Amino acid sequence: MATVETRDIKKHFGEVRAVDGVDLSTKEGEFLVLLGPSGCGKTTLLRMIAGLELQTGGDVLIGGQVVNDLPPRARKIAMVFQSYALYPHMTVFKNIAFPLKAQGVQKELIPQKVAWAAALFGIEGLLHRKPRELSGGERQRVALARALVREPSVFLLDEPLSNLDAKLRAAARDELQQFQRRIGTTTIYVTHDQVEAMGLGDRIAVMQGGKVRQIGTPLEVYDEPADTFVAGFLGSPPMNLIERQDCLVGFRPEHFLPKEAHENRGRLTTLQFRVTRVEYLGADRLVYGALEGRFPDAKVIAKLPSTVMVPIQPGIHYDFAVQDKDLKFFDKATGLRTGPRPLA
Ligand SMILES: Nc1ncnc2c1ncn2[C@@H]1O[C@H](COP(=O)(O)OP(=O)(O)O)[C@@H](O)[C@H]1O
Ligand SMILES: [Mg+2]
Repeated sequence: MATVETRDIKKHFGEVRAVDGVDLSTKEGEFLVLLGPSGCGKTTLLRMIAGLELQTGGDVLIGGQVVNDLPPRARKIAMVFQSYALYPHMTVFKNIAFPLKAQGVQKELIPQKVAWAAALFGIEGLLHRKPRELSGGERQRVALARALVREPSVFLLDEPLSNLDAKLRAAARDELQQFQRRIGTTTIYVTHDQVEAMGLGDRIAVMQGGKVRQIGTPLEVYDEPADTFVAGFLGSPPMNLIERQDCLVGFRPEHFLPKEAHENRGRLTTLQFRVTRVEYLGADRLVYGALEGRFPDAKVIAKLPSTVMVPIQPGIHYDFAVQDKDLKFFDKATGLRTGPRPLA
């Protein structure tokens, strides 16, 4: 096991600042997720940690040692990419054994190591098959077993589940998390999927434009976003953001409820809501519309759990409210979080 750290790491491709000064530091055995939209620099950052890409500036440390000059194989890292390639002509056993052979592991030790890695992912029964005889999920597990068989100190995963369909993904996510908890290998996991990030990460580093905008536990980044980017990227639907003089006021759809549904929980700010559309999602109702009064025509969304029985119809005005503790304020110019301000 080892920690991973980057210090002001950068990668510029000509004019493109793919990674633009990132400071990250994992804890021992941590599951850290890098989350951000396509093109924000996640893969480039991971490749620099692995030693597959040379940084323009800054340092990579593994286990507290600067590894800038170490080639990938000397970094004791295993990496699994989105497009993991199994060797099609080899059996599952041979695929998993391959990195051991390349590493010069004694022949007699190979079967037991392969059996160990296969057991971790429940693929002991597939060892004699060829990749084309496996389902997508099984191939994924073989790729993970192959990456782990060398018992790396650090595990780097770049959108490893994105080739699986939604149902398999949820199951694979669950397996991956259980497995990581069991072996306790420090893991950095890249995804653009916020649901995946929230479910998997001990902490999430939210990236945009080559920078880390915020790093924290899933609850911290969700409840206390550091800027409007993080506020808007997490949550489905995302946080409502309303312009007001020099700031933006944000509140989550699930905190914007009919006034009577709040009962007596804390101080409330009441907003007049003109409803245009109601969408039934089973457990929730999404209510679309615009505010009136002090924020005329600001478009907002409310997410009401099915336990809120208040009937809501399009074309009608309602008194909705947000608890004051759930109002977040951001500077309009910088997008950064600021302290609470009175709304009146
Ligand atoms: N080899 C390369 N040459 C030029 N530009 C690159 C190269 N690799 C990545 N980029 C650019 O760097 C940025 C970050 O890319 P990447 O790290 O792949 O993002 P992500 O994995 O978050 O989608 C993008 O603008 C991408 O086009
Ligand atoms: Mg990528």
